[in-house]
Amino acid sequence: MKNRLKEIKNQAIIEINDAKTLEEIENIKVKFLGRKGELNTIRRGIKDLSPEEKPVIGDLANKIAGEIETKINEKHQALYKAEISEKLQSEKIDITLSGASKPFGTQHPLTSTINDIVSIFQGMGFSLVENINSPEVETEYYNFDALNFPPDHPAKDMQDTFYTLNAPNLLLRSQTSNSQIREMEKKSPPLRVISPGRVYRSEAVSSRKNNLFHQVEGFMVDKDVTFGDLKGILNEFTRQFFGQSRPTRFRTSFFPFTEPSVEIDVQCIMCQGKGCRTCSGTGWLEILGAGMIDPNVLKNINIDSDTYSGFAFGMGVERLAMLKYAINDIRLFFNNDVRFLEQF
Ligand code: DAH
Repeated sequence: MKNRLKEIKNQAIIEINDAKTLEEIENIKVKFLGRKGELNTIRRGIKDLSPEEKPVIGDLANKIAGEIETKINEKHQALYKAEISEKLQSEKIDITLSGASKPFGTQHPLTSTINDIVSIFQGMGFSLVENINSPEVETEYYNFDALNFPPDHPAKDMQDTFYTLNAPNLLLRSQTSNSQIREMEKKSPPLRVISPGRVYRSEAVSSRKNNLFHQVEGFMVDKDVTFGDLKGILNEFTRQFFGQSRPTRFRTSFFPFTEPSVEIDVQCIMCQGKGCRTCSGTGWLEILGAGMIDPNVLKNINIDSDTYSGFAFGMGVERLAMLKYAINDIRLFFNNDVRFLEQF
């Protein structure tokens, strides 16, 4: 029996040494130390031995069981440590690797140009009129008549303006100037308003013209508003928008709703006034139309033109963005080519 116990011990040691996983060690434990294991069978038989053999075999069985258990625990520890360190290795995160970056969208250059223009005027006390208060589908009255366009004005011609088939006199607005009438109908002076939005014209599309584009309209009505105020505000606008003070030129012009009317040129940003392709050799770039609001317009909305006066202006957003960012084709704004858009 002593020999059998020693054999069991040797066998256990061989198997423990060979074990490669925690699972194998667990099985060895059951096999040698479990209730149904051979060691236990021998121990159960001790009661049948002679009184001399009982303590000897009993002690030896206990000793061997203890030794096997110690070996198993040691091996368990070693395997457990190895498994953990392997796991740590394989699951290691290299925090010096750069993360997977998600691409960010950018603001459309027309949106950021509108935001720039609006915030410059807000800085000078103008308040923003939301698009909803100045509709794109408009009546002839707000787009033309209330703005002092005579009934036979060429701009009202079908070639310039998109009329709808739904109703006579319903059109896509050709200018943001409708916001002047809509705002002045609702509010009384003093007023300082800025109103950006989309406008539509029936034009042949080219690198300089699209039949949908954007304008920003602005106007100020108060007592004693003069042409000097118009000049000061618009000069300050060009200084802030182009980032530096540049010469401006006020040319007389004509709009039905302003008297006097002007067009404002800014010195060419490409050639500093020397003359180049961008400015067709003139050294100047037209950026907006403006003027003192015609008393007839004020009368149309029951504002007393003896007490109040005002100025108004309207600028093309695409044109300003093209000048600021040196873009040579208006269609780029509408093609949605990501290679163009992501530059902004
Ligand atoms: N509405 C004009 C256009 O589309 C631009 C304009 C000129 C607006 C003079 C104004 C203004 O408010 O006073 O050509």
